[in-house]
Parts: sequence; C-alpha cells; structure tokens
Amino acid sequence: MSLFKHISVVESGMGSEILKKLKIIPNCVYETIFTTYNGSSKPNAAPMGISTPDMEKIVAKIFTSSQTYRNIKEKGCAVINITNDIALFYRTSLDKRSLGEEIFKPSKTVNAPILVSASAYIEVTVDNMRKIDEDRCEVVFSVKDAEIIDSCATPVCRAPNLILESIIHATRIELYNLKGFPEEAKPLVDQVKSFREIISRIAKGTTYEELMEKIWRKIQNA
Ligand SMILES: Cc1cc2nc3c(=O)[nH]c(=O)nc-3n(C[C@H](O)[C@H](O)[C@H](O)COP(=O)(O)O)c2cc1C
Repeated sequence: MSLFKHISVVESGMGSEILKKLKIIPNCVYETIFTTYNGSSKPNAAPMGISTPDMEKIVAKIFTSSQTYRNIKEKGCAVINITNDIALFYRTSLDKRSLGEEIFKPSKTVNAPILVSASAYIEVTVDNMRKIDEDRCEVVFSVKDAEIIDSCATPVCRAPNLILESIIHATRIELYNLKGFPEEAKPLVDQVKSFREIISRIAKGTTYEELMEKIWRKIQNA
C-alpha cells in the first residue's frame, strides 16, 4: 500500500482536487516555498505566497527582482512546496548559503525541482504573467501534477495566528479597561488594528476576516 497520495491532473482532469485536499479556501494567502531551476539548471528555493480565486488556478505576486521570478519567466514552470518547517522559510529567504543541493530532487512533469522534505507539492506551469506595479508581477499557474506525502499537509497561513494574537490581546484590553488603565490597553489596540489591516489584505471576504471583524467590534466596546 502506497503511503503517498499522488494526484495526476492529466489523469483526473481536476486541478482543484489537490487544493481541496490541502484544505485551501479561496482568496486566502498561504505561505509556500517555490522551487525552480535557473538557466544553468541550478536549483533555487524561496518562500512565496499563493492564493486561488476559483479553486482551480493558483496565483502568486512575485517581485521581479527575485531569482524565482527570473527562473519562472525563463522556464515557464515551478514547484509549489507545502511545508510547516519554519526554519526552512528562514533558510530559503534569509540564509540561502545554508542550502545544499541535497534538499532538492527532480520533479515528474515540470522542469523544476521539489523539496525533499515537503509534506506536499504541486507541479505548476505558467498560464499568464502581468505586471501589477513597479516591482511585482502577478503570475497565474495551472496545476500539472501533485503529491500529498503527509496526509495532514496544509499550507501555512498567517491569518489564524494573527486572529489568535488578537483574541489574546482582546482579553487583556478588556481587563486593563475594567481596571481603569486605558493607557495600558492602547498599544494592544494598535497592534490588533495592524493585524486587522493584514487580515483584510491576506484573507479578504473569508471567514477569517469575519472573525477578525467580530474581535475588532468587541475591542471597540471594551
Ligand atoms: C513567508 C514569506 C512569504 C513571502 N512571500 C513572497 C511573495 O509572495 N512574493 C515575493 O516576491 N516574495 C515573497 N517573499 C520574499 C522572498 O521569499 C525573498 O525575497 C527571497 O529571498 C527571494 O528569493 P529568490 O531571489 O531566490 O527568489 C516571502 C518571504 C517569506 C519569508
């Protein structure tokens, strides 16, 4: 019996199957690690946010100054690795020198490597690329193939952590206000305000935004 859940989109014709299995919801940004090859087939890994508007296509907003952007532009493909290894997010963005080639292996259907330690991965090709501002390009991908290695695999999302922090802050704000120390509550309110702003960017129209709005209203009335 195979330990792995392999999803061939060519076979199933369903790009959305993998997104559902990874418990992804539409219009929410998830943090993943993109792996690509450069022109000399040197592997590269970098954290990138992804979202899906329709549970079929995958969208990323990528800085045109990044190696990942150059590689995707040249090769027309990438692998989106799902991992919750936070140290790997650090190493692939701020400590790239610590990365050796042993962390990569070849993929099946696209000209891009996979992270050996990924709990799931999605092999994708570029459908469309368009500049969205001076520094970034929006890239729309189609799923070509995918594999879930850990059956619990789900991509990291900042929204639940920001909401948890906001709930903790809200309980303290309530307490400070009850004790008559509003000046102690103020920096916490400011932090929740900035978390709310992030949520409205990374989880617009989702249940995370709804929950955040409920917390915000409670804080206003505390
Ligand atoms: C959690 C996380 C998410 C990120 N999301 C993006 C993103 O969506 N788009 C982007 O261009 N850079 C993003 N970055 C920054 C890039 O990963 C970073 O600039 C990286 O060094 C680029 O590497 P590269 O030049 O090898 O592609 C993110 C970084 C982290 C840590």
